[in-house]
Amino acid sequence: MNKKVYVTRRLPEKVMQLMNKTFEYDVNPEPRLATREELINGVKNYGAIITMLNDNIDSDIISMAGPDLKLIANYGVGFNNIDVKAANERGIYVSNTPDVLTDATADIAFTLLFAAARRVIEGDNIVRTSSFAWAPEYMLGYDITGKTIGIIGAGRIGANFGRKAALGFNMKVLYYSHRNSEQLDSIDAEKVELDELLTRCDFISLHVPLTPETKHLIGAAELAKMKSTAILINTARGPVIDEKALAEALTQKVIAAAGLDVYEHEPDVEPVLKTLKNVVLMPHVGSATFGTRDNMGFLVVRNVEAVLEGKEPVNMVRVK
Ligand code: GLV
Ligand code: GLV
Repeated sequence: MNKKVYVTRRLPEKVMQLMNKTFEYDVNPEPRLATREELINGVKNYGAIITMLNDNIDSDIISMAGPDLKLIANYGVGFNNIDVKAANERGIYVSNTPDVLTDATADIAFTLLFAAARRVIEGDNIVRTSSFAWAPEYMLGYDITGKTIGIIGAGRIGANFGRKAALGFNMKVLYYSHRNSEQLDSIDAEKVELDELLTRCDFISLHVPLTPETKHLIGAAELAKMKSTAILINTARGPVIDEKALAEALTQKVIAAAGLDVYEHEPDVEPVLKTLKNVVLMPHVGSATFGTRDNMGFLVVRNVEAVLEGKEPVNMVRVK
């Protein structure tokens, strides 16, 4: 059995140290994404490959996998960058890194919510670049505590975010999901249809994976149903929102503001968004904390270790 692993990009130092003790590997040493050639070499000649969520592991690449390849271990919870079906059809497992990044990602959703509602970036800019004077109606933003928040997608991150909203900020929580969430039901969240969520909520936060069904889940029609004071947060995947429609809605004040960590065509961002004050833009950093990025790496190593020992990965993903 080929027990050598290809790593498409260097992981945090503690993770590299754990890998040194756990298996043999080659790593792309450069501070850039692996090239397509490097990815092909990885799937052709190794027993497992550790991929980043911006490595595009499509069916073409998977069709070039060598007979040794047993696992594609993604460093991230989302796995829309991998053609899981094509991998599984060739008997290749796919794994991800759930749970360890749930708090960090829910936290960045709150970061964006606060920044957008209370105009943090605008305020910081004013202080740095000009002068300010307190006044009764200066720099007004939106109340957060006690308001109604809608969660779209009640998986681990959505549920965690909803509990933080209810328990920390006394928010009324509505959710739209194809599943029931015990965690959300335990805080008396209301499960509703999408339209009801869109019309009733002051804040709306997206927590669905990207699939053909969730692409452009939020477009012009959905934005038009939201309150004119609504604030939309996306820490899931960019294409869940029609980004051009969002830019238009923010320009026309169809909704009040947005906070985005992910984009439809990363790393490109709709140029109009960059000109607007009522949107806060972060560069896909939901899980980017020192502790979380280490823990994601430790989990990747466990998944690889399991498969190299002939077992199933601990965090196996499949297409439904
Ligand atoms: C981050 O976007 C992840 O999927 O882990
Ligand atoms: C991701 O971990 C989710 O299920 O929300």
